[in-house]
Amino acid sequence: MKISGKVLVFVFNLHLVATLIHGANKNENERKGISINTFSPRKHMYSLTNGAHAANGTDTFGNISACDSGTLSEKKVKGKLVYCLGNSGQDYTIDELGGAGTIIGLDEETDVAFPFLIPGTFVSPKDGKKIDQYINSTNSYIRFLCKEGYNSTTIALLTGGKHRYSCSNFKPAQGTDGLNYPSMHIQHKNPNSSISAVFYRTVTHVGHGSKSVFKATVTSPKGLYVKVIPDTLSFHRLYQKKSFKVVLKGSSSLGGTRILSALLEWSNSRHSVKSPILVYRPST
Ligand SMILES: *[C@@H]1O[C@H](CO)[C@@H](O)[C@H](O)[C@H]1NC(C)=O
Ligand SMILES: *[C@@H]1O[C@H](CO)[C@@H](O)[C@H](O)[C@H]1NC(C)=O
Ligand SMILES: *[C@@H]1O[C@H](CO)[C@@H](O)[C@H](O)[C@H]1NC(C)=O
Ligand SMILES: *[C@@H]1O[C@H](CO)[C@@H](O)[C@H](O)[C@H]1NC(C)=O
Ligand SMILES: *[C@@H]1O[C@H](CO)[C@@H](O)[C@H](O)[C@H]1NC(C)=O
Repeated sequence: MKISGKVLVFVFNLHLVATLIHGANKNENERKGISINTFSPRKHMYSLTNGAHAANGTDTFGNISACDSGTLSEKKVKGKLVYCLGNSGQDYTIDELGGAGTIIGLDEETDVAFPFLIPGTFVSPKDGKKIDQYINSTNSYIRFLCKEGYNSTTIALLTGGKHRYSCSNFKPAQGTDGLNYPSMHIQHKNPNSSISAVFYRTVTHVGHGSKSVFKATVTSPKGLYVKVIPDTLSFHRLYQKKSFKVVLKGSSSLGGTRILSALLEWSNSRHSVKSPILVYRPST
């Protein structure tokens, strides 16, 4: 039976920086959810979080992705839309903690009509994954900004929202940027000091065939040393993840060149994946 209800469209509280990095357009960030809903959202936009990011510590008992009762922090949930996995009555918990609403990611595609205690909606597993990725990307971007020396005041100028991010609430980023983007770049502050940076990246094997071996090839300009560890990635199954690190070193006197660009290429017999590496130096 299919019951039609009000369709709520949550527009994600898109941060300007995330838009710039992902080149996302508005449509890509609109997801439709279905539920019987008698609420009308009071605000046009809400901050979005999920169970993992709003957890009250790491040693809680219960499933944090499912937002189980007792796993969430009131401070991190208050006023936000909380994305949770699987329908298990999370609306009650989130309501108690002052959350603005909930988005429930279903385990499988179904037509669901279910009344929520708070503004709520169901989304398909596919859309749920997009929402999770989006939440992860904004958080890693905040970590990146913290690492770059931004503080809550300057991050607010960039993100434009009323929400204040405090760098102490985010796990410190690993490596030079703390991001998992294909490209790597550093902005070198002092032209007289040498270049030194480390990037950590994780890739997922989504190509054809389950077994595949990719080798790294680096093209770099004179004076910029790039090492990839390990320089071979062997995948044994689809969707397997592998991590590698890229170490950059360079001397200070590089003949006044302001932008140094290198290229890391992972290739197997059929495919190649390119990652540009850029080093910006101010002029002396
Ligand atoms: C979060 O954890 C602290 C310390 O364990 C506890 O005092 C507090 O009640 C918890 N908050 C919620 C909302 O469960
Ligand atoms: C948490 O709950 C979700 C939804 O029911 C489920 O898909 C996931 O496997 C659970 N995770 C753990 C660690 O039990
Ligand atoms: C989001 O990040 C968490 C850990 O930070 C990870 O376990 C999860 O797989 C990520 N989800 C997606 C969809 O990228
Ligand atoms: C944040 O950084 C700006 C610019 O560096 C500085 O003027 C401001 O005092 C800092 N604010 C806080 C709260 O540390
Ligand atoms: C770099 O070295 C030059 C020449 O010694 C000096 O004039 C300049 O002030 C130095 N720049 C910085 C940012 O330290």
